[in-house]
Amino acid sequence: MSGQAIDTNAMTLIRYVLAEQKKFPGATGDLTALLNSILTACKAVSSAVRKAGIAKIFGIVGQTNVQGEEVKKLDVLANDLFINMLKSSYTTCLLISEEDERVIEVETDKRGKYIVCFDPLDGSSNIDCLVSIGSIFSIYRKTSTGPPTEQDGLQSGRNIVAAGYALYGSATMVVLSTGNGVNGFMLDPAIGEFILTDPNMTVKPRGKYYSINEGYASLWDKAVTEYVKRKKYPENGKPYGARYIGSMVADVHRTLKYGGIFMYPATKDSPNGKLRLLYECNPMAYIIEQAGGLASSGKIPILDVVPKKIHQRSPIFLGSREDVEEILDLYKQL
Ligand code: AHM
Ligand code: MG
Repeated sequence: MSGQAIDTNAMTLIRYVLAEQKKFPGATGDLTALLNSILTACKAVSSAVRKAGIAKIFGIVGQTNVQGEEVKKLDVLANDLFINMLKSSYTTCLLISEEDERVIEVETDKRGKYIVCFDPLDGSSNIDCLVSIGSIFSIYRKTSTGPPTEQDGLQSGRNIVAAGYALYGSATMVVLSTGNGVNGFMLDPAIGEFILTDPNMTVKPRGKYYSINEGYASLWDKAVTEYVKRKKYPENGKPYGARYIGSMVADVHRTLKYGGIFMYPATKDSPNGKLRLLYECNPMAYIIEQAGGLASSGKIPILDVVPKKIHQRSPIFLGSREDVEEILDLYKQL
Protein backbone atom coordinates (compact mmCIF):
# COMPACT_ATOMS: atom_id res chain seq x y z
CA MET A 1 0.00 0.00 0.00
CA SER A 2 1.39 3.41 -0.84
CA GLY A 3 1.21 6.36 1.58
CA GLN A 4 1.20 5.35 5.22
CA ALA A 5 -1.71 6.82 7.21
CA ILE A 6 0.22 7.05 10.48
CA ASP A 7 3.83 8.11 11.00
CA THR A 8 5.16 5.42 13.30
CA ASN A 9 8.28 7.39 14.16
CA ALA A 10 7.00 10.97 14.61
CA MET A 11 9.26 13.52 16.33
CA THR A 12 7.10 14.74 19.19
CA LEU A 13 8.05 17.78 21.21
CA ILE A 14 8.90 15.74 24.30
CA ARG A 15 10.97 13.31 22.24
CA TYR A 16 12.85 16.28 20.82
CA VAL A 17 13.47 17.77 24.27
CA LEU A 18 14.57 14.39 25.66
CA ALA A 19 17.12 14.08 22.86
CA GLU A 20 18.33 17.66 23.53
CA GLN A 21 18.73 16.93 27.25
CA LYS A 22 20.76 13.80 26.53
CA LYS A 23 23.48 16.11 25.19
CA PHE A 24 24.02 17.33 28.77
CA PRO A 25 25.38 14.43 30.82
CA GLY A 26 24.29 15.92 34.17
CA ALA A 27 20.68 16.62 33.10
CA THR A 28 18.07 15.30 35.54
CA GLY A 29 15.08 15.28 33.23
CA ASP A 30 13.43 18.05 35.25
CA LEU A 31 13.22 20.43 32.31
CA THR A 32 11.53 17.74 30.24
CA ALA A 33 9.01 17.15 33.03
CA LEU A 34 8.44 20.88 33.33
CA LEU A 35 7.88 21.34 29.59
CA ASN A 36 5.56 18.37 29.59
CA SER A 37 3.40 20.06 32.24
CA ILE A 38 3.26 23.24 30.15
CA LEU A 39 2.22 21.23 27.10
CA THR A 40 -0.60 19.60 29.05
CA ALA A 41 -1.82 23.06 30.05
CA CYS A 42 -1.58 24.26 26.42
CA LYS A 43 -3.55 21.26 25.15
CA ALA A 44 -6.30 21.86 27.70
CA VAL A 45 -6.39 25.59 26.89
CA SER A 46 -6.47 24.80 23.17
CA SER A 47 -9.42 22.51 23.69
CA ALA A 48 -11.25 25.16 25.73
CA VAL A 49 -10.43 27.92 23.21
CA ARG A 50 -11.85 25.76 20.44
CA LYS A 51 -15.01 25.42 22.55
CA ALA A 52 -14.78 21.66 22.77
CA GLY A 53 -17.62 20.95 25.14
CA ILE A 54 -19.70 24.02 24.37
CA ALA A 55 -22.35 23.12 26.92
CA LYS A 56 -19.71 22.82 29.62
CA ILE A 57 -18.20 26.20 28.86
CA PHE A 58 -21.36 28.19 28.30
CA GLY A 59 -24.04 26.10 29.88
CA ILE A 60 -27.41 25.98 28.20
CA VAL A 61 -28.31 29.33 29.72
CA GLY A 62 -25.80 32.09 30.23
CA GLN A 63 -23.00 31.89 32.70
CA THR A 64 -23.73 28.66 34.56
CA ASN A 65 -22.95 25.32 32.99
CA VAL A 66 -25.20 22.29 32.89
CA GLN A 67 -24.12 21.24 36.37
CA GLY A 68 -25.20 24.64 37.65
CA GLU A 69 -21.59 25.58 38.47
CA GLU A 70 -20.46 29.05 37.69
CA VAL A 71 -18.36 28.93 34.53
CA LYS A 72 -14.81 30.17 34.68
CA LYS A 73 -13.83 32.75 32.13
CA LEU A 74 -11.34 31.40 29.65
CA ASP A 75 -8.41 33.44 30.95
CA VAL A 76 -9.05 32.38 34.55
CA LEU A 77 -9.36 28.78 33.42
CA ALA A 78 -6.08 29.01 31.51
CA ASN A 79 -4.34 30.50 34.55
CA ASP A 80 -5.61 27.76 36.87
CA LEU A 81 -4.49 25.11 34.39
CA PHE A 82 -0.98 26.55 34.12
CA ILE A 83 -0.56 26.91 37.89
CA ASN A 84 -1.87 23.43 38.70
CA MET A 85 0.17 21.70 36.00
CA LEU A 86 3.36 23.58 36.87
CA LYS A 87 3.08 22.95 40.60
CA SER A 88 2.36 19.26 40.15
CA SER A 89 5.42 18.78 37.94
CA TYR A 90 7.60 19.00 41.11
CA THR A 91 10.12 21.06 39.14
CA THR A 92 9.19 24.67 39.98
CA CYS A 93 9.51 26.88 43.04
CA LEU A 94 8.21 30.27 41.89
CA LEU A 95 5.56 31.22 39.34
CA ILE A 96 4.88 34.65 37.91
CA SER A 97 1.61 35.00 36.00
CA GLU A 98 0.08 37.96 34.22
CA GLU A 99 -3.14 37.13 36.04
CA ASP A 100 -1.68 37.33 39.55
CA GLU A 101 -0.51 40.56 41.09
CA ARG A 102 2.01 38.79 43.33
CA VAL A 103 4.44 35.94 42.76
CA ILE A 104 3.13 32.44 43.48
CA GLU A 105 5.33 30.39 45.80
CA VAL A 106 5.10 26.67 45.20
CA GLU A 107 4.36 24.57 48.33
CA THR A 108 7.55 23.26 49.96
CA ASP A 109 6.88 19.58 49.24
CA LYS A 110 6.39 20.27 45.54
CA ARG A 111 9.39 22.54 44.97
CA GLY A 112 11.99 22.16 42.23
CA LYS A 113 14.68 24.47 40.87
CA TYR A 114 12.84 26.32 38.10
CA ILE A 115 11.04 29.64 37.94
CA VAL A 116 8.35 30.11 35.29
CA CYS A 117 6.95 33.43 34.04
CA PHE A 118 3.84 33.11 31.90
CA ASP A 119 0.87 34.79 30.31
CA PRO A 120 -1.67 31.96 30.31
CA LEU A 121 -3.95 33.53 27.68
CA ASP A 122 -2.64 36.56 25.85
CA GLY A 123 -4.80 38.67 23.57
CA SER A 124 -7.84 38.46 25.81
CA SER A 125 -9.67 41.20 23.89
CA ASN A 126 -9.76 38.73 20.98
CA ILE A 127 -11.33 35.83 22.87
CA ASP A 128 -14.97 36.63 22.23
CA CYS A 129 -14.59 37.26 18.49
CA LEU A 130 -12.65 34.02 17.90
CA VAL A 131 -9.46 35.69 16.69
CA SER A 132 -6.19 33.85 17.40
CA ILE A 133 -4.86 34.02 20.94
CA GLY A 134 -1.92 32.35 22.67
CA SER A 135 0.00 31.42 25.81
CA ILE A 136 3.55 32.66 26.44
CA PHE A 137 6.17 31.32 28.87
CA SER A 138 9.81 31.57 29.91
CA ILE A 139 11.78 29.37 32.27
CA TYR A 140 14.64 30.40 34.57
CA ARG A 141 16.75 28.64 37.17
CA LYS A 142 16.64 29.83 40.78
CA THR A 143 20.12 31.08 41.45
CA SER A 144 19.93 31.92 45.17
CA THR A 145 19.73 29.60 48.15
CA GLY A 146 16.88 29.67 50.64
CA PRO A 147 13.13 29.93 50.05
CA PRO A 148 12.01 31.49 46.76
CA THR A 149 11.33 35.22 46.81
CA GLU A 150 10.16 37.80 44.29
CA GLN A 151 13.80 38.83 43.81
CA ASP A 152 14.53 35.37 42.29
CA GLY A 153 12.09 36.21 39.51
CA LEU A 154 13.75 39.50 38.61
CA GLN A 155 16.38 38.06 36.27
CA SER A 156 17.26 39.47 32.87
CA GLY A 157 16.15 37.54 29.79
CA ARG A 158 19.77 36.50 29.21
CA ASN A 159 19.28 33.90 31.96
CA ILE A 160 16.38 32.19 30.19
CA VAL A 161 16.77 28.40 30.07
CA ALA A 162 13.88 27.84 27.68
CA ALA A 163 10.99 29.90 26.34
CA GLY A 164 8.17 29.65 23.90
CA TYR A 165 4.55 30.19 23.08
CA ALA A 166 1.44 28.30 22.06
CA LEU A 167 -0.63 29.83 19.29
CA TYR A 168 -4.29 28.87 19.16
CA GLY A 169 -4.75 29.80 15.52
CA SER A 170 -6.21 27.90 12.60
CA ALA A 171 -4.19 25.07 14.14
CA THR A 172 -2.51 24.90 17.54
CA MET A 173 1.25 25.25 17.43
CA VAL A 174 3.96 25.44 20.08
CA VAL A 175 7.15 27.30 19.17
CA LEU A 176 10.00 26.50 21.54
CA SER A 177 13.66 27.25 22.12
CA THR A 178 15.88 25.63 24.70
CA GLY A 179 18.80 27.81 23.64
CA ASN A 180 19.71 25.85 20.54
CA GLY A 181 17.61 27.42 17.78
CA VAL A 182 13.85 27.50 17.37
CA ASN A 183 11.47 24.69 16.48
CA GLY A 184 7.75 24.64 15.79
CA PHE A 185 5.47 21.76 16.77
CA MET A 186 1.89 21.43 15.52
CA LEU A 187 -0.74 19.79 17.71
CA ASP A 188 -2.13 16.67 16.09
CA PRO A 189 -5.55 16.46 17.76
CA ALA A 190 -5.93 12.85 16.63
CA ILE A 191 -3.19 11.69 19.01
CA GLY A 192 -2.92 14.71 21.34
CA GLU A 193 0.78 15.20 20.61
CA PHE A 194 2.81 18.13 19.34
CA ILE A 195 4.71 17.00 16.23
CA LEU A 196 7.80 18.72 14.84
CA THR A 197 6.55 20.42 11.68
CA ASP A 198 8.77 23.54 11.51
CA PRO A 199 12.37 22.55 12.35
CA ASN A 200 15.09 25.21 12.71
CA MET A 201 12.86 28.26 12.26
CA THR A 202 14.71 31.41 11.22
CA VAL A 203 13.48 34.93 10.62
CA LYS A 204 14.56 36.36 7.28
CA PRO A 205 16.98 39.32 7.36
CA ARG A 206 14.36 41.69 5.91
CA GLY A 207 10.60 41.43 5.52
CA LYS A 208 7.79 43.23 3.73
CA TYR A 209 5.40 43.88 6.60
CA TYR A 210 5.18 46.29 9.51
CA SER A 211 2.90 45.55 12.43
CA ILE A 212 1.79 48.24 14.88
CA ASN A 213 -1.45 49.63 16.29
CA GLU A 214 -1.70 52.61 13.95
CA GLY A 215 -4.67 54.04 15.83
CA TYR A 216 -2.18 55.53 18.30
CA ALA A 217 -0.16 57.36 15.59
CA SER A 218 -0.81 60.79 17.16
CA LEU A 219 0.81 59.53 20.38
CA TRP A 220 4.03 58.14 18.83
CA ASP A 221 7.51 59.61 19.17
CA LYS A 222 9.46 61.01 16.22
CA ALA A 223 11.38 57.82 15.41
CA VAL A 224 8.28 55.61 15.12
CA THR A 225 6.40 58.29 13.16
CA GLU A 226 9.28 58.65 10.70
CA TYR A 227 9.79 54.88 10.43
CA VAL A 228 6.16 54.16 9.55
CA LYS A 229 6.14 57.07 7.08
CA ARG A 230 9.15 55.52 5.32
CA LYS A 231 7.40 52.15 5.10
CA LYS A 232 4.31 53.76 3.54
CA TYR A 233 6.03 56.26 1.24
CA PRO A 234 9.39 54.67 0.38
CA GLU A 235 11.95 56.64 -1.64
CA ASN A 236 12.63 53.55 -3.67
CA GLY A 237 11.06 50.12 -3.79
CA LYS A 238 7.54 49.13 -2.82
CA PRO A 239 5.70 50.19 0.32
CA TYR A 240 5.48 47.61 3.11
CA GLY A 241 2.19 45.86 3.82
CA ALA A 242 0.52 46.54 7.17
CA ARG A 243 -0.61 43.67 9.40
CA TYR A 244 -1.91 43.95 12.95
CA ILE A 245 -3.99 41.37 14.75
CA GLY A 246 -3.77 42.79 18.26
CA SER A 247 -2.73 39.39 19.63
CA MET A 248 0.97 39.43 20.35
CA VAL A 249 1.46 35.70 19.80
CA ALA A 250 -0.20 35.82 16.39
CA ASP A 251 1.62 39.01 15.35
CA VAL A 252 5.00 37.66 16.48
CA HIS A 253 4.39 34.27 14.88
CA ARG A 254 3.63 35.91 11.54
CA THR A 255 6.76 38.03 11.89
CA LEU A 256 8.82 34.90 12.60
CA LYS A 257 7.37 33.03 9.61
CA TYR A 258 7.18 35.81 7.00
CA GLY A 259 9.67 38.40 8.26
CA GLY A 260 9.15 42.10 8.92
CA ILE A 261 8.78 44.04 12.15
CA PHE A 262 6.39 44.00 15.10
CA MET A 263 6.27 47.13 17.25
CA TYR A 264 4.55 48.10 20.47
CA PRO A 265 6.27 51.40 21.19
CA ALA A 266 6.03 53.92 23.99
CA THR A 267 3.21 56.40 23.50
CA LYS A 268 2.48 59.76 25.13
CA ASP A 269 -0.07 57.99 27.35
CA SER A 270 2.06 54.93 28.11
CA PRO A 271 5.75 55.91 28.25
CA ASN A 272 6.74 52.26 28.79
CA GLY A 273 4.47 50.83 26.13
CA LYS A 274 1.89 48.21 27.04
CA LEU A 275 3.54 44.81 26.88
CA ARG A 276 5.01 43.24 30.00
CA LEU A 277 8.70 42.44 30.15
CA LEU A 278 8.73 39.16 32.07
CA TYR A 279 6.09 37.10 30.28
CA GLU A 280 5.43 38.92 26.99
CA CYS A 281 8.56 40.75 25.78
CA ASN A 282 11.33 38.47 27.14
CA PRO A 283 10.09 35.10 25.87
CA MET A 284 9.34 36.59 22.44
CA ALA A 285 12.71 38.37 22.33
CA TYR A 286 14.43 35.10 23.21
CA ILE A 287 12.63 33.22 20.41
CA ILE A 288 13.34 35.95 17.85
CA GLU A 289 17.05 36.20 18.79
CA GLN A 290 17.37 32.42 18.68
CA ALA A 291 15.83 32.59 15.18
CA GLY A 292 18.46 35.12 14.05
CA GLY A 293 16.36 38.28 14.44
CA LEU A 294 16.53 41.25 16.81
CA ALA A 295 14.38 42.43 19.70
CA SER A 296 14.97 45.83 21.26
CA SER A 297 13.34 48.26 23.63
CA GLY A 298 14.46 51.03 21.26
CA LYS A 299 17.48 51.62 23.47
CA ILE A 300 18.91 48.23 24.39
CA PRO A 301 18.22 44.58 23.54
CA ILE A 302 15.11 43.43 25.43
CA LEU A 303 17.03 40.50 26.91
CA ASP A 304 19.51 42.89 28.56
CA VAL A 305 16.86 44.77 30.51
CA VAL A 306 17.20 44.00 34.22
CA PRO A 307 13.69 43.93 35.68
CA LYS A 308 12.85 45.86 38.82
CA LYS A 309 9.21 44.80 39.13
CA ILE A 310 7.50 41.61 38.05
CA HIS A 311 4.79 43.33 36.01
CA GLN A 312 6.91 46.08 34.48
CA ARG A 313 6.31 47.08 30.87
CA SER A 314 8.68 47.79 28.01
CA PRO A 315 8.39 49.24 24.52
CA ILE A 316 9.34 46.53 22.01
CA PHE A 317 10.56 46.33 18.41
CA LEU A 318 11.23 42.84 17.12
CA GLY A 319 11.63 40.86 13.93
CA SER A 320 13.90 40.81 10.89
CA ARG A 321 17.39 42.07 11.71
CA GLU A 322 17.57 44.79 9.04
CA ASP A 323 14.08 46.07 9.74
CA VAL A 324 14.76 46.42 13.46
CA GLU A 325 18.15 48.01 12.80
CA GLU A 326 16.41 50.65 10.67
CA ILE A 327 14.20 51.86 13.52
CA LEU A 328 17.12 51.69 15.96
CA ASP A 329 19.11 53.97 13.62
CA LEU A 330 16.22 56.43 13.65
CA TYR A 331 16.23 56.37 17.46
CA LYS A 332 19.90 57.32 17.37
CA GLN A 333 19.26 60.19 14.92
CA LEU A 334 15.97 61.69 16.15
P1 AHM B 1 -3.57 41.39 27.20
O1 AHM B 1 -2.45 40.76 27.99
O2 AHM B 1 -4.51 42.18 28.06
O3 AHM B 1 -4.28 40.39 26.35
O4 AHM B 1 -2.89 42.49 26.26
C1 AHM B 1 -1.82 42.13 25.47
C2 AHM B 1 -2.19 42.30 24.03
C3 AHM B 1 -1.15 41.73 23.09
O5 AHM B 1 -1.45 40.43 22.72
C4 AHM B 1 -1.23 42.67 21.91
O6 AHM B 1 0.01 42.75 21.23
C5 AHM B 1 -1.61 43.99 22.52
O7 AHM B 1 -2.26 43.67 23.74
C6 AHM B 1 -2.56 44.79 21.69
O8 AHM B 1 -2.83 46.00 22.33
P2 AHM B 1 -3.58 47.19 21.59
O9 AHM B 1 -5.02 46.82 21.55
O10 AHM B 1 -3.31 48.40 22.44
O11 AHM B 1 -2.99 47.34 20.22
MG1 MG C 1 -0.99 39.48 27.95
